[in-house]
Amino acid sequence: MSAPVRTRNRSSLTHRVRYAARHPQRIAPYLRRLTRDWRIRRRTGGDHVAYYRAVMRADTARNPRGAVGTPSEERWNALGQLQFDYLLGHGLTPADRMLEIGCGNLRAGHHFIGYLEPGHYHGIDISPDILLAAQRTLADCKLQSRLPYLTLVNDLRLAHLPDGHFDVVHAHSVFSHSPLPVIEECFAHIARVLAPGGFFDFTYNRTDGTEHHVLHEDFYYRPGTLIALAESYGLAARVMDDWDKLPHKQSKIRVTGPAAQAS
Ligand SMILES: C[S@@+](CC[C@H](N)C(=O)[O-])C[C@H]1O[C@@H](n2cnc3c(N)ncnc32)[C@H](O)[C@@H]1O
Repeated sequence: MSAPVRTRNRSSLTHRVRYAARHPQRIAPYLRRLTRDWRIRRRTGGDHVAYYRAVMRADTARNPRGAVGTPSEERWNALGQLQFDYLLGHGLTPADRMLEIGCGNLRAGHHFIGYLEPGHYHGIDISPDILLAAQRTLADCKLQSRLPYLTLVNDLRLAHLPDGHFDVVHAHSVFSHSPLPVIEECFAHIARVLAPGGFFDFTYNRTDGTEHHVLHEDFYYRPGTLIALAESYGLAARVMDDWDKLPHKQSKIRVTGPAAQAS
C-alpha cells in the first residue's frame, strides 16, 4: 500500500476559512495561539530556537505531559510505545548507543532508557522546561539507575558529543517543528557522531504540494527536499514506507552516513 498523497496547504486562507467553518469551536483557541505566537516572535526576533523554547515553556507550564503534543495520558503512552516498538522491530539491541534529538519529556525515551544498557541513552533538547519534566518522568518510572544523559542544547551542531558513537539517532516530531536551516545544521553534523553502520531516523510533516508552515510552529516538507538536502551532505536518505502504515500523521526518513553506504 503506497502512502496517501497530501497536498493540503494549511497556511492558505481558503484552508483556514473552510477549517474554521467546519470547527467553529477551534476558532477561539486558534486566536489565542496566534496572539501568543505573535508576542513570542516579537520578543525573540528571527531566532527560531529562542522562539520554540518559549513556546515549549508556555506549553510545559500548562501541561508538562501534554507539551509534546499528546494532551491525554493514553495518547502520551501510545505515542511513546509506537516509537519504541518501531525501533525494536528494526533491530534495536540493548547494547546500542542511542541519541534522541528533541527528547522532550521522555514520552518514548523512558522506554529506550529502560531497555538500553545503563549510560547508552543520550537525550538532547532546546527546552530547559521540558528537560525538567523529563527528569520527573525518569523518577516516576524509577529509571535513575539507568543513568541516561539529558542535555540542554542551543543548536544541532552536536559539538559536545563524541565521534562515531551512536548506533541509532532518533528525532520524533522535531523536524515537524523546524525550519529548513535547523534541519540543515543537523545534517551537516550528524555523520560525525554516527557509529559505522549507524542510522538516523526522523519524522516530519509531509506534503506533496507546496511547502509551508503554520504559525512558525508546524512545518510541511516534500520528502524530495529533505532527501536532497541530506544527500548534499554526503548522506544517504530513504523514506520509511513501513512507518506510513502505522497510526501516525507524520512520515519518516532514515539517513545513513558515508560508511554505511559503503558497507
Ligand atoms: C513534539 S515534542 C516531541 C518530543 C519527543 N521526541 C517525543 O516524541 O515525545 C518536540 C521536542 O523537540 C524539541 N525541539 C524542537 N526543536 C529542537 C531543536 N532544534 N533541537 C533540539 N530539540 C528541539 C522541543 O523542545 C520538544 O521537546
